[in-house]
Amino acid sequence: MKLMENLKVQLEERSYDIIIAAGVLKKVNEVLADFAAARRCLIVTDSNVQPLYESTLKLGLAEIGAETADYVYPAGEEHKTPETVVDICRKGVRSGLDRKSLIVALGGGVCGDMAGFAAAMYMRGIGFIQIPTTLLSMVDSSVGGKTGTDLPEGKNLIGAFWQPQIVVIDPETLKTLPAEEVCCGLAEVVKYGMILDEEFFSLLEKNIDKLKSLDMGFYTKIIRRCCELKAEVVSKDEREGGLRAILNYGHTFGHALELLSNFEVAHGKAVSMGMAIAAELAADTGRISKELAERQNALLKKLDLPVKAPAGFDAEEVYNAMMQDKKTLGKIIRVVLPDAIGKVSIVKGLEKDIVTKAIRKCCE
Ligand code: NAD
Ligand code: GLY
Repeated sequence: MKLMENLKVQLEERSYDIIIAAGVLKKVNEVLADFAAARRCLIVTDSNVQPLYESTLKLGLAEIGAETADYVYPAGEEHKTPETVVDICRKGVRSGLDRKSLIVALGGGVCGDMAGFAAAMYMRGIGFIQIPTTLLSMVDSSVGGKTGTDLPEGKNLIGAFWQPQIVVIDPETLKTLPAEEVCCGLAEVVKYGMILDEEFFSLLEKNIDKLKSLDMGFYTKIIRRCCELKAEVVSKDEREGGLRAILNYGHTFGHALELLSNFEVAHGKAVSMGMAIAAELAADTGRISKELAERQNALLKKLDLPVKAPAGFDAEEVYNAMMQDKKTLGKIIRVVLPDAIGKVSIVKGLEKDIVTKAIRKCCE
């Protein structure tokens, strides 16, 4: 079995590998030996993932002499709270975790964000490992070190940059992921093509069948490319001083739609609609042709992702919600707009009228 399809996130002394291989979870003893052998590990996972994959992980860790305890929270974004993060830390204390111990996140983005944040705080910072099991977490949240939790006042409002020691991705785990979650993850995959890689975008266009049938070879390849692209961006701008903001393509509009729908519109679908609005705005402001916007939207539609918001959204309200986003610095609107497939710019200070016009067109 070929285990190593390593990529590296280059961050000097905080550099780490991303291992991507179908079936790697069953070989976790081999890939984690350098990190977890004879250490105490707290596995953090949720109520859906625990019965599916935790025993395999525990077995692998036991083989290298790691002692494990676990913290299982009820699945769902509503449990991404400071209380859960504190509970993870308290379980760590009760399980005897010391400064050499590890927290291992086994699950989606909710799990990785909270486990990573707990690791950043526990005894002022201990090591952590990401084992993402959703498409979104494989291609986005497990790489790059953004950790945190929601507050009642909004999403991801507290957190820390805390890089994992290694990311282990087993695309086989996608086989149990609900189809709707795979679909949402594909919005992020399309995002990478739009922001950085036209060739990758074309590859997606030509392989709709493989994307829809969850072809493992193809998924391994595309996850790898997304991680490679994200790793390059993070290596250049770890703390989002500039470039890293391009990863938010579609997200500023998307977050506003998510918020206004009271989170009934799923994140991936909101990002898809957000990318459609961004492309519309780019066409309206002469950055791209209508045909190019249509090319993006055609791919999204083929993947069953929406390019129009459901009825009932008001463009002014979406605009106002965008202005509340923590990323709308100093109240100057800042959006990521395409210049071509595979190239985007961060555009600041657009007039409200032009932005709301583009939103309105996608809210009909
Ligand atoms: P999630 O962790 O809630 O997982 C989605 C659902 O899939 C859950 O019900 C979970 O139990 C289930 N699940 C996970 N893996 C499974 C599997 N293999 N088989 C069956 N069921 C499985 O959510 P998500 O969509 O992975 O992540 C969303 C979160 O990620 C948000 O909180 C968002 O803020 C965060 N995020 C963080 C970053 C970052 O850079 N840190 C980036 C993007 C998103
Ligand atoms: N998901 C955006 C980032 O990691 O910066």
